[in-house]
Amino acid sequence: MKALRKLYYILSPKSRRITRQIFYLPIDLYETLTHKRNPMIPPRGKIFIGGGDFTAQGEHIKNMLTELAGLKPEHAIIDIGCGIGRTAVALTSYLDKSGRYEGFDIVKEGIDWCNRKISGRFPNFHFWHVDLKNDLYNLSTSQMAKDFTFPYGDGEFDCAVLTSVFTHMMPDDVDNYLGEIHRVLKPRGKCLATFFILTPESKSKMKGREFDFKYSFGNYSLMSRQVKEANVAFEKDFLYGLFKKNGLSAENVFYGYWPGNAPGKAKDFQDVVVLSKEK
Ligand SMILES: C[S@@+](CC[C@H](N)C(=O)[O-])C[C@H]1O[C@@H](n2cnc3c(N)ncnc32)[C@H](O)[C@@H]1O
Repeated sequence: MKALRKLYYILSPKSRRITRQIFYLPIDLYETLTHKRNPMIPPRGKIFIGGGDFTAQGEHIKNMLTELAGLKPEHAIIDIGCGIGRTAVALTSYLDKSGRYEGFDIVKEGIDWCNRKISGRFPNFHFWHVDLKNDLYNLSTSQMAKDFTFPYGDGEFDCAVLTSVFTHMMPDDVDNYLGEIHRVLKPRGKCLATFFILTPESKSKMKGREFDFKYSFGNYSLMSRQVKEANVAFEKDFLYGLFKKNGLSAENVFYGYWPGNAPGKAKDFQDVVVLSKEK
């Protein structure tokens, strides 16, 4: 598994997409011809956001949003790094007509899919492509996330969500995004975000396992030196310092089972943090 992951990272984002499409071609073709797939759900070969059951994972994220971050059907939510609509598809059956969903991502194929398949059916769902560099997902630009201003006004959203996004971003980029999240949230708005958090416990448990962040750079650690943003973990004190600096307080943290814990009480594989806008 480790070796396969390494091999996968060596490929460019474009080659990874082509490899995936070829690998899944038979099953995708079968499901398309037999109309076995919900039209909003992408064929497997197009799903560039990682493994697992697309629908079940989307439902799981929706449940975390309602149970942990208080999302209501009439709320406005921003999905930062929305990928290819995994959370959006689940939210189409939850948000009502007065609710609003805005998603943006740096991978154009994902946004094009969501605009074609979701926005037409649900006009209160909008998707935007933003061209920013990430060495796992997008090498076609030198524009950096640390300099990016979200394309929304102040205080527009009740809720923000980032599942498996901060786990692919460098510290200065995360710092800027937390500031932007604070800006676009309403007072007391919530943000549910997942991370790999380095604590004394996770650091000792992760050793030798698949998610072993071997390369330490002080406040953060990486799994791969070649593709830095493949997976990024943050030291807990540093991360909590960034929350505070950006006017966000961590209301709750649910440690995940990525370091090798039994899933037990964990909410997710990754660490889930619920942030609240302080003022
Ligand atoms: C593992 S995928 C998760 C996608 C989605 N959040 C989900 O759970 O289905 C990570 C996503 O983060 C996006 N991403 C990475 N850096 C980003 C950035 N600076 N701004 C917005 N999206 C970003 C990637 O393009 C990718 O779609």
